[in-house]
Amino acid sequence: MTQVKRIGVLTSGGDCSGLNTAIRAVTFGALTKGWEVFGIHNATDGLFSRPMNYRRLTMADFEFPYATLGGTMLGTNNSGNPHVQMKADGTTEEVTTEELYQRFKDGVQELGLSALVVIGGDGSMALVSKYCQHAGISMIGIPKTIDNDAPCTQQAIGFATARSVVMDALDKLDTTAASHHRVMVVEVMGRGAGHLALEAAIAGFADAALIPEIPYTYEGLLAHLKHGQAAGKKHALVVVAEGLKTPDGKHHFAGNGRTYGGISGYFEERLREDGFNVRANILGHVQRAGTPVASDRLLASAFAVRAIELIADGQNNRVVAWENGKVTDFDLSYILKVANSPVDPNGAMVRVARSLGIYVGNEK
Ligand code: F6P
Repeated sequence: MTQVKRIGVLTSGGDCSGLNTAIRAVTFGALTKGWEVFGIHNATDGLFSRPMNYRRLTMADFEFPYATLGGTMLGTNNSGNPHVQMKADGTTEEVTTEELYQRFKDGVQELGLSALVVIGGDGSMALVSKYCQHAGISMIGIPKTIDNDAPCTQQAIGFATARSVVMDALDKLDTTAASHHRVMVVEVMGRGAGHLALEAAIAGFADAALIPEIPYTYEGLLAHLKHGQAAGKKHALVVVAEGLKTPDGKHHFAGNGRTYGGISGYFEERLREDGFNVRANILGHVQRAGTPVASDRLLASAFAVRAIELIADGQNNRVVAWENGKVTDFDLSYILKVANSPVDPNGAMVRVARSLGIYVGNEK
């Protein structure tokens, strides 16, 4: 009798829209092959905690429209300490690294898994891959990030929806800015990458997009806004990426001291000093939420199908990617050697922005 193949799926790192679509597609793709699927809760914690925290996934799990919701139905983790694990009675216990490896292996064996699909960033994939190797199972990665800076893929799950969320916010802020003849400084997520700020600024008809990849001067921004005023523009939208440095080279950090946040306040203050009626807006985690747009659903579905094919083909440590209109895959070791992909200062989107008169920093 042939044994039914069992696979696991988990989400790891910061959430974004499209994760549930990916979980659904992994599940449906596997069930279509006659396999069984186990969703692991809260990233690898689901296999580390005792009792384990997982659920068997079936088509019935998607009767309630999870796949159209933002967030992740499996839960995730981007800052937790795996050495502190929850016990059945709700208290926590300290677990050593060796014990984590052992628990992971025992968990995988108990569930009978032969492969694990990791929907996350390359850091998560690298870590989980080590556990998988120890447990003797394969790891297949699916990239997700609203920052869109994952190595080797032109698009990651979550980016398209976040870009639409920011564009919608800009559309709304534009009406209030126009009514009050104000400059709105809009701070957008993206850590060290400006893809989200740049593309949303173009789609949302902003006047400026300041991103970490392109040097700028405050005077350059000021001159641009004054030029707009002289031409009859009574309001403006200035998009700033959270990972931008102030002209004197400083990052602004959020209250947690770990993630960026607050750079918009710097520009609010300076523009006010220069006579503008100005307000700063930090869009925050709303950018990681919302119904996934069609292109994120398509990407998540196509990625999941390739992940299932790779498992069926007996592959290990492969990461799916989007390249020139189709899905491809790379070896994890290669992904880890390639740096994250920032905005190309000479790339198509920067050229579009500049050609539309959007200030994106200094031209060389
Ligand atoms: O990397 C994704 C991201 O959303 C960044 O754009 C942002 O800086 C960070 O995560 C926020 O992380 P946290 O969930 O820890 O606030």
